[in-house]
Amino acid sequence: MKYFIGNWKMFGVPKSISILHKINAYYSRDKKRNKYKVIITPPYTLIESYSRYFKNKRISLGAQNCYHRDYFSSNTAAISPYMLKSVGAKYTLVGHSDNRGEGDTDVMLKEKVKYAIKNNLKVVFCIGENKKDKNNKKTLSVLKRQLTKVLEKKFNKNNIIVAYEPIWSIGTGKIPTSNELRKTTIYIKKILKAIFKKASPAVLYGGSVDGSNAQMFKEIKEIDGFLIGGASKTSKKFIDIIKNYYR
Ligand code: 13P
Repeated sequence: MKYFIGNWKMFGVPKSISILHKINAYYSRDKKRNKYKVIITPPYTLIESYSRYFKNKRISLGAQNCYHRDYFSSNTAAISPYMLKSVGAKYTLVGHSDNRGEGDTDVMLKEKVKYAIKNNLKVVFCIGENKKDKNNKKTLSVLKRQLTKVLEKKFNKNNIIVAYEPIWSIGTGKIPTSNELRKTTIYIKKILKAIFKKASPAVLYGGSVDGSNAQMFKEIKEIDGFLIGGASKTSKKFIDIIKNYYR
């Protein structure tokens, strides 16, 4: 199963649901539809209304983040995994570099993963090195640290998807070479196998994925799908990625 996950970030108002209508129409008719899953993570404000509309449709909805506590608490503006589940989210991103940059620590991320799974959300756990790490050839050691500090065997691997998003690639149009990406993905899967003591969870790539590079990624069969930012904000660009991937 491949995953095409659209992360809208700070984008979208109620009428933006028209984008999902078009993506869902394509997805529902596509002969290849059983090979992949489409998940969209709109902002918190839209999860309830979109989930209600798409309840019995193919697209699934998720959140972009969750708070590191369960149920209710007295943290202003915080949204818990319990609250997300109650409005129809099936997935949540955890550890996106935007949120790590705003102060999410490994300890907080571990709590987020724990409470998300407890509330029956699947976690898309994001990792990635910055430009300096890459230039200093620290990519693999950074990724290993990010994975081993947060993920544990007790988190059933079926509830976890890992998204590798090099920070220098997000929104820049720059992507790793296919050799680099293959090597990195294989390494991530090796670490995950050691953590979970069995087969690795799915590993996605994110960072400047669009219709023009989708086919290049197809050559790397170790990649189980994509976390897509900018190109998920219009139906055409998002559908182009799927079309070109399966061309
Ligand atoms: P872009 O696809 O815009 O580079 O964003 C990637 C990303 O951060 C998705 O979470």
